[in-house]
Amino acid sequence: MERSLVLIKPDAMKRGLAGTVIARLEKGGVKLVGLKMLHLDEAQAKQHYAIHQDKPFFSDLVRYITSAPIIAAVFEGENAIEVIRKIMGATDPAKAETGSIRGDFGLDIERNSVHGSDLVETAREEIKLFFSEEEIFSY
Ligand code: RTP
Ligand code: MG
Repeated sequence: MERSLVLIKPDAMKRGLAGTVIARLEKGGVKLVGLKMLHLDEAQAKQHYAIHQDKPFFSDLVRYITSAPIIAAVFEGENAIEVIRKIMGATDPAKAETGSIRGDFGLDIERNSVHGSDLVETAREEIKLFFSEEEIFSY
């Protein structure tokens, strides 16, 4: 059983796509075990995206992810990380499959609607940034 951190990003929030994103993930067979809405500050955004701190797009990315409230969710399931990344589609919406979240709703490579953890270890670290153990449910 794996867990993954999902973020519903500002572009999706602003266009009323939160429910659609959650529904697509649930339909894909992963289970919602944690959920909250929050507005990241600059320090939290930099921490979440620390791996990209040397990339040319880092400051834009931090500005974007802090530009509006987001939803953070924990999904659980067999191969949840890979299952979720498939449902999300490629990073660049122009390259993402039709029928994937980014393929259908992403605006550009930055405003691509959703984040999902990419590895078991990063998922663990990312979930810890957003959720305490008491905020994640077994049911
Ligand atoms: P994520 O971490 O958000 O799930 O996305 P990802 O693994 O598919 O992509 P990653 O390489 O980790 O990039 C993180 C986020 O940074 C923004 N980005 N902007 N302007 C650019 O060239 C660029 N490249 C990436 C996107 O919001 C991407 O999801
Ligand atoms: Mg990533």
